[in-house]
Amino acid sequence: MSKIAPRLPWFGPGKFPLYLAPMARHTDVAFRQLCKEQGADVMVTEFVQSEALIRDNAKAWEMVDFTESQRPMGVQIFGATPASMAKAARLVCDRMRPDFLDLNFGCPAHKVIEQNAGSGLLRCTPLLYDLVKSVKDAIPDIPLTAKMRLGWDHSTIVAVEVAGRLEQLGVEAIAVHGRTKEQGYSGEAHWGWIAQVAAAVNIPVIGNGDVKDGASAMRRRAETGVSGLMIGRAALGNPWVFAQIKASMEGREAESLVVTSRQRWDCMLRLAELTIEVHATRLGSRDVRWMLDRLHPLTHGLPGGRKLRDRLRYCLTLDDLRHLRDAHLVEVAA
Ligand SMILES: Cc1cc2nc3c(=O)[nH]c(=O)nc-3n(C[C@H](O)[C@H](O)[C@H](O)COP(=O)(O)O)c2cc1C
Repeated sequence: MSKIAPRLPWFGPGKFPLYLAPMARHTDVAFRQLCKEQGADVMVTEFVQSEALIRDNAKAWEMVDFTESQRPMGVQIFGATPASMAKAARLVCDRMRPDFLDLNFGCPAHKVIEQNAGSGLLRCTPLLYDLVKSVKDAIPDIPLTAKMRLGWDHSTIVAVEVAGRLEQLGVEAIAVHGRTKEQGYSGEAHWGWIAQVAAAVNIPVIGNGDVKDGASAMRRRAETGVSGLMIGRAALGNPWVFAQIKASMEGREAESLVVTSRQRWDCMLRLAELTIEVHATRLGSRDVRWMLDRLHPLTHGLPGGRKLRDRLRYCLTLDDLRHLRDAHLVEVAA
């Protein structure tokens, strides 16, 4: 069942959007491009601190960058001061004109919750509501959405109550990650709570947590009243997951599930090329060494993946990477 959100036209009858989940240090412009090419319908930047945007921090502004072909795009911000969040939201909307602005009420990282930001706001909901009101007033021209967890811990699940209040305050869609702050990323996502949130509000709810393939996506769609799904970690090693889920939903399973070693390598090369293009630097430079770590999830599924990850560390240029690909493809064919 897809609910209607007039200013978010990717929801509605016959539509069921697949979102790429925001993931800090992973879902930058380059990685998002790969996912877009594989059928991700809607994407959101990783979270960016409101104060950093206000200070005009270059790195923060780089993080909210996106290309026109990646639309519909949301920019996600976090913070705990209503005035700063409102100011940052206005700046982002003026400079980037995103399709929506998203508020983070889910991050469990210590340095974020100690400022009462991210999932820290789920244990001080009056502040969370003040913050939403301030941002909403500051950006009447851009749809406002939110992404949240179920609550602080299992004894304080607030998702249904918070979602209802967010709807009253004018939030137009809510993504719910079915874990508490205490769970971090462990245990299972509780989709029963996500279903309860979806039943409680009239705005679209996007379900998130452990969706990894066509079967899990179909199951969650059938069991809950969500209007779309959000996929995170599964996309890191398998950007094809969006196309695979769509194939399953359209009843064309088998032919699109097999990803060959060549396709995996092409994808790794493409991610490396896009990263270098976006960050205007060399593969071996300190700035993008993290990018090689980002290739690791894509090597899972390649024969001899562990050894390959060791060899990746010695790649300093795109040519090194191409040589490694050629050698590896010959080895696995032998
Ligand atoms: C490395 C990493 C970084 C993340 N960064 C963000 C973030 O910036 N903003 C956010 O709302 N959620 C963030 N998340 C949470 C994901 O968006 C998502 O809610 C979570 O991974 C559960 O979905 P999954 O089971 O499909 O991975 C992050 C998760 C991971 C693993």
